[in-house]
Parts: sequence; structure tokens; C-alpha cells
Amino acid sequence: EKNGFDHFMLKEIYEQPSAITDTYRGRLLVDDGIIRMAGVDDNLERFLNAKRIVIVACGTSWHAGLVAEYIFEDLARIPVEVEYASEFRYRNPIINSDDVVIAISQSGETADTMAAIKLAKEKGAFVFGVCNVVGSSISRETNAGAYTHAGPEIGVASTKAFTTQITVLTLIALKLAKAKGSISNTDFHMHLRELETIPGKIEIALNSNEHIKKIAFKYKDVRNCLYLGRGFNFPVALEGALKLKEISYIHAEGYPAAEMKHGPIALIDEEMPVVVIATRKGHYEKVVSNIQEIKSRQGKIIGIVTEGDTSVRDLADFVIEVPDTIEALTPLVTTIPLQLLSYHIAVMLGKNVDQPRNLAKSVTVE
Ligand code: F6R
Repeated sequence: EKNGFDHFMLKEIYEQPSAITDTYRGRLLVDDGIIRMAGVDDNLERFLNAKRIVIVACGTSWHAGLVAEYIFEDLARIPVEVEYASEFRYRNPIINSDDVVIAISQSGETADTMAAIKLAKEKGAFVFGVCNVVGSSISRETNAGAYTHAGPEIGVASTKAFTTQITVLTLIALKLAKAKGSISNTDFHMHLRELETIPGKIEIALNSNEHIKKIAFKYKDVRNCLYLGRGFNFPVALEGALKLKEISYIHAEGYPAAEMKHGPIALIDEEMPVVVIATRKGHYEKVVSNIQEIKSRQGKIIGIVTEGDTSVRDLADFVIEVPDTIEALTPLVTTIPLQLLSYHIAVMLGKNVDQPRNLAKSVTVE
């Protein structure tokens, strides 16, 4: 069942190029210049009339929601709020009948997300689901939806579900941007062509596996780790930290890179590894100066950089290269080395990677 891989998690990390290809199937029609998604097409007016989109989810799916916030606002110019489902359901949220609520859930069974959906429906909102498990409770409770088609995810730590959720949400954002006219035709077609290259770029990112193993060996015994990113890659930093926490039990935190000076910089010393997403697109110079601040405090730097980068390489203890892509799509490639890094650290520490302590694959209780 593991297809020759030692763990489901590793198999699922390596499945991402084909999983994303499956997510595209029948939807991303590059030659025709269209994105076809029945759940969106059938409800296009609801989406276009929405004054805002509210995304509800938990855990890794919530991180995908945060990436989507940047993508929807950037491309489709629709205001987005992203909420933890558990908070949303208990805080008497302001929801109007012209709001669109997007619920994201791999399992489609998460109790908090389900409760948030029911509440949003009571208030008259249109609820759209992004689920992986076909026929799951959430996919049945929502008004419409789009499956991620990632295939079964067995490892408790979510990997291919995350990147396929981002893929579905990017397709929706682009579709709405086109319908609204908030993206030019040229830009729209450029995005479609670039999306098509993503599975191949993830393959290339996976080729760093052996190099990442060496980095994992070097840092496996640390007690703490920081993850920094900016813009589209800020949620990727949060996701990288969550992956490390849940399978290796090392304390990790993700931060927007510029927030470092407002507190977390106090933690930096020669014992602290800092994983910094510093791809060329997206506030590159600012992130490089954050890296300089870490270096001057003797922090250890692991940079996730664009192929051919030299500035970060000169400052960092290690760099991991990923292929270049347009800024909005960088999370799909920068996520890969972070998944591999936590995987290898957890394996080296002898942890149960596929079934970490205290965690379940679907959280059907509050
Ligand atoms: C992280 C993880 C959890 C889930 C969360 C939501 O690796 O597995 O944080 O992402 O419990 O689960 P779903 O997406 O099934 O609603």
C-alpha cells in the first residue's frame, strides 16, 4: 500500500505532482483558455455578487485558507476573511445572506468546521465546500463545492491535501477574476500556463530530498525552530511549523518575517534554527534584510530560495532551491521542502510519522 515508501506521509509528499494533475483534470483547459468548475459555474452570480468571502477551516486546511485569502484578494479583488471554524462557531459572527462562505476540509468530517457551516447556513449564507473525501459529511452539507481529488490521505500530517486545496482555491480565484474582469486576458492566460507547469516544478523540488536529509540530520536535536515567510509565503511558514510540531514534537512557530522585530527576535541565538522562505518573487530584499538580522544574532539560517539564488546562499547555513514561478503560485513549491524537512527529522528521531501521538486523522469531536 505504501508503494515502496517507508511511510504514507512520504508517499503522499511524492504524490503531489500527480495529485495536482488530478485536481486540474477536466478543469484547467489551457488551450481553450478556460477553467471549468461546475460548482462555481452553476453559482457564478452568488460568487460575483458576494461582498466578501469568509473561509472557515481548521489546522492545515486553515493555512490553505490563508494562502487563498492572498490569492483571492490579489486576483479577484474580493475581500476575504479567514477564520478558525472553532472560533467562528462560538462568537456570534456577522454573516449576511449575500456572503459566500468557503469551508475547507480534507476529511470532510471535522466537527468544528461542520458546526461553522451549519451556523453560516442558518444565517442565509451560500456555503461552498472544498473537500477531499467524496461523499463526506461536509461535502453533503454544503450548498455546492469542488473536490480536491488528491486521493486518500492516510498519513495524519496533511501534505497533498494542502497543496491540492491551494490548487482548487487558485482555480476558483482565477475563474472569478476572469468573470469580474479584474485580471487582464494576457495575465489570465499566463496564469493558466504557469499552473500547468506546477506539477513538474514540484518534481524538481522533490529532487532536493537527499540534500534535505542532510539538513534534517544537522538540526534534528534542536528543541525549538522558527519559520518565517512573507506575503503568499507567510501561511507556508505557519504550515512548515505545524508539520514539524505534529510529527517530531519539536516546538516550532511560524511568523510573518517582518513581525520578527516585534518579539520573536528575542529568541534568536546560536541554538535557534530559522527556516526562511526567501524566494526571489515576493519582498525578496526585505526578507534578505531579515536574514541579516538573524545572522548578526548568530541564528542558524535555512533558506528556501529560488534556483540560482546567490544573496541568501552567502548568508545562510543551508539553502534549499525551488524552481521559479509567479508569486501567487510559490506556496505550491515552497511547501515541498518544508514537508520533507519535518518528515526526515521525525524519522531520525524515531517518531511515529504516520500516526503521531495524540492526533487523529479526522477530528470529529469538539
Ligand atoms: C495537520 C492536520 C490537521 C488537519 C485539521 C483539519 O497536518 O492534519 O491540522 O488539517 O484537523 O482537518 P480537515 O482538513 O480534515 O478538516
